[in-house]
Amino acid sequence: MKHLLSLHDWSADEMKECLSLAAKLKKQQQEGIPHHILQGKTLGMIFTKSSTRTRVSFEVGMYQLGGQALFLSANDIQLGRGESIYDTAKVLSRFLDGIMIRTFKQEDVEDLAKYGSIPIINGLTDLLHPCQILADLLTIQEHQGELKGKKLAYVGDGNNVAHSLLYGCAKMGMEVAVATPENYTCDEKVVKEAKEDAAANGGKVLITTDAKEAAKNANVIYTDTWISMGQEDQKAEKVKSFAPYQVNDELFGLAHKDAIFLHCLPAYRGMEVTESVIDGPRSAVFDEAENRLHAQKAVMAMLMG
Ligand code: CP
Ligand code: NVA
Repeated sequence: MKHLLSLHDWSADEMKECLSLAAKLKKQQQEGIPHHILQGKTLGMIFTKSSTRTRVSFEVGMYQLGGQALFLSANDIQLGRGESIYDTAKVLSRFLDGIMIRTFKQEDVEDLAKYGSIPIINGLTDLLHPCQILADLLTIQEHQGELKGKKLAYVGDGNNVAHSLLYGCAKMGMEVAVATPENYTCDEKVVKEAKEDAAANGGKVLITTDAKEAAKNANVIYTDTWISMGQEDQKAEKVKSFAPYQVNDELFGLAHKDAIFLHCLPAYRGMEVTESVIDGPRSAVFDEAENRLHAQKAVMAMLMG
């Protein structure tokens, strides 16, 4: 294992190792035990899209591991003026020990890994968001125990978060149900591969347009914004199609009585989720956000240590 480009590339054992290292690093952090595993190392963080959680958690995480992180906005580096991914990968590999990149095309992240000689971490593309899902799985484990056999229902847009949840939950032997409107379904290749991952690991994948069917008896109800970064011009059209997919008390009521609510954030109250659910007693969204830090520290320790 050299990179984190997609959870589909990681084995179930690698994911479990990452989750258990994340739990250990979280405990050490809480107890004030230093864990400078990456002393002297530098992570470059390339962003061509906005971020609150990803940027801050990687930067703080690297500091806590004894290394340092460099924020590289695409507006400020030559990549934003047309320098190639090839040259960027070659040059940055001479300075840095790892790169986290958030951008549009999954292909650009893969090219960075192909042409560079250091670990590359996918910090979100239009297709995938693997770091988010490692934090989500850690959160589910903390609240619900053993992952295997648990049901996660994702209701909303068939986007990057949905895709990485499909891979991640399938690999952990969970049942993952994804409900989207007909015109906003998940990528076919991702669904096919996630079904293979599920078959190999005792998981189950359900793809539906029926939010209620997905939510029924789930241990986790998950949603994400209806309008991802780069889709701002589709807002009016999407808001109409997604109205029946709002996570509200009625939908949440169909889940298991001890179910938790997750959302990768940023959230838009009154759109994909009601205040009553996201600010309610069974919402774990801020534990989930915190776990970005612990999960990504484990990823960096595994790839760059
Ligand atoms: N969930 C997530 O990736 O948040 P940011 O866009 O703030 O990084
Ligand atoms: N699907 C969202 C996730 C944000 C963390 C987006 O891509 O904007």
